[in-house]
Amino acid sequence: MSSPLRIAVLASGRGSNFAALLAARERGELPVQFVLVASDKPDAAVLALARTASVPTLVLNPRDYAERRDYDFALFDRIAASKPDLIVLAGFMRIIDGDALKPWAGKMINIHPSLLPKYRGMHTHRRALKAGDTEHGASVHYVTAELDGGPVIAQSTLPIEAGDSEDALAAKLLPLEHRLLPSVVACIAADRLALGDQGITFDGELLRKPLRCVDGKLVR
Ligand code: GRF
Repeated sequence: MSSPLRIAVLASGRGSNFAALLAARERGELPVQFVLVASDKPDAAVLALARTASVPTLVLNPRDYAERRDYDFALFDRIAASKPDLIVLAGFMRIIDGDALKPWAGKMINIHPSLLPKYRGMHTHRRALKAGDTEHGASVHYVTAELDGGPVIAQSTLPIEAGDSEDALAAKLLPLEHRLLPSVVACIAADRLALGDQGITFDGELLRKPLRCVDGKLVR
């Protein structure tokens, strides 16, 4: 058997998506090894989750670096030292320098709480409500230099109901995120997904539109 996919997670906050990955691994659904959890926030709750699960942690505080670019290169040098096969951005709230990302093309994914290409950036729930959308969702995409702009692998959707507030929508979406992200990581670990020159392939076939995550399974 080949060795498990080595994963580094970058997160700035509470880490519920990382917790979902850990839980999927516990259930035997995700044959991966978490080699690092890195954060830009020294008191991020995700770090405590990692320590409890005996996953190595790294905190680099942007305040200790004169330039954004210096920070990004230092961070990715340290991440590279843990030899990940895949980097998962799970609520990492910083824009990363495009040159620092280059070596990781096709090896870094991000979860974003909108149906990309709609609503890149912040306040996605608020913006979906304001636009009068009837549907909202989350996307997992490969990371490129363009913020939330890389090729979308898979999405989960939910209807927006009358009376939904920003918080209500975020709360309804989160459990879907917690199924979407492990499903995508599981498919990468199983070598079913890849990013090539032509785009994303799933089971060797080019993806023409994002996969849908239905009951924790990715379907075309
Ligand atoms: C999630 O909504 C994710 O989509 C976004 O940031 C949030 C992170 O939440 N990128 P958590 O820290 O995983 O709980």
